[in-house]
Amino acid sequence: MYTDVSVAVLFLCFFTLSYCSTCDINKLEGETMSFKLTDSSLKDNDRFTIKKDNQVLVPKRNRKQEGPGIVENNFLKLPDVKLSDAGSYTVEVFDGRGQNLNSYTKTVCVYAKVSKPRVNVTCQDGKIDFICDVEDSKDLSFTWEKNGEDFKMNAKVLINVEADTVTKYTCTAQNPVHNNTSDSVEASCLKTKAKNSSDTLFGFDRWVMDNILAAGGSFALFVIVMVTVACCFCKCRARQMRAVCHVTIWKRTRPMRRKPTPKNKVILQLLQK
Ligand SMILES: *[C@@H]1O[C@H](CO)[C@@H](O)[C@H](O)[C@H]1NC(C)=O
Ligand SMILES: *[C@@H]1O[C@H](CO)[C@@H](O)[C@H](O)[C@H]1NC(C)=O
Ligand SMILES: *[C@@H]1O[C@H](CO)[C@@H](O)[C@H](O)[C@H]1NC(C)=O
Ligand SMILES: *[C@@H]1O[C@H](CO)[C@@H](O)[C@H](O)[C@H]1NC(C)=O
Repeated sequence: MYTDVSVAVLFLCFFTLSYCSTCDINKLEGETMSFKLTDSSLKDNDRFTIKKDNQVLVPKRNRKQEGPGIVENNFLKLPDVKLSDAGSYTVEVFDGRGQNLNSYTKTVCVYAKVSKPRVNVTCQDGKIDFICDVEDSKDLSFTWEKNGEDFKMNAKVLINVEADTVTKYTCTAQNPVHNNTSDSVEASCLKTKAKNSSDTLFGFDRWVMDNILAAGGSFALFVIVMVTVACCFCKCRARQMRAVCHVTIWKRTRPMRRKPTPKNKVILQLLQK
């Protein structure tokens, strides 16, 4: 068990320097920290004390006395660890006669849960890069999966991904105690363009909106043309009518007049054609 952990830590150290910090105990925020006080069960008059970063955290006491933490069998438990609880803890235990029974120091690291990574797909000159983006990305290492299979260790950025709309990629971000995996993405430039928020207009897909607007524009143009034609037609009709009336009136009143007016002359010529 212990060797498994050591091997795992060594393995992680090899790939990420951040894991090589000398943490003896890794805890997820909210978990309980336990310190072993004695190998066998704690006697009633055994006394213990815990210092954190050389400051007394648990003043010397026996298992019956009040104090921070809960004694369970031969362990002292400190529940609900915070990020600020990370540090170097020194445990000292004495028997009833003041003889030192146990004494050790351990470095405790506390980690927050890893929030869900987002994969940024960037397309430039036909080259596709993926970035595994995690908010508050402290002490993280990254792994990628391609169609559900591991294929690359410890890379926040994947460069030159081959364009392909079938293969699904996910990235997993992990610290020593927690991990979280992104939604799957594909290596496609078109897909990312469609997701770009500037490609939406009034919150609708740009393509749909463009077509609606284009269709609306064409319809408006059609209406304008029709109205113009109709107006011209009406105007022409009105002008023709007026001209005919004019000539009719002139013809009827001709006996009273010697000469047609210059305007009527033109209309008369037009009508005679
Ligand atoms: C991953 O993170 C999201 C929030 O960012 C959270 O809701 C989800 O539960 C996390 N997944 C796991 C497996 O913890
Ligand atoms: C990923 O994209 C988001 C917005 O699209 C941006 O805020 C963030 O900085 C990007 N992350 C990286 C690592 O480029
Ligand atoms: C992520 O966490 C789950 C459960 O906590 C574990 O089974 C899995 O192996 C972890 N994945 C990685 C890549 O560390
Ligand atoms: C969205 O597209 C515009 C140009 O069309 C570009 O300037 C911008 O950086 C893009 N935004 C994202 C988040 O990719």
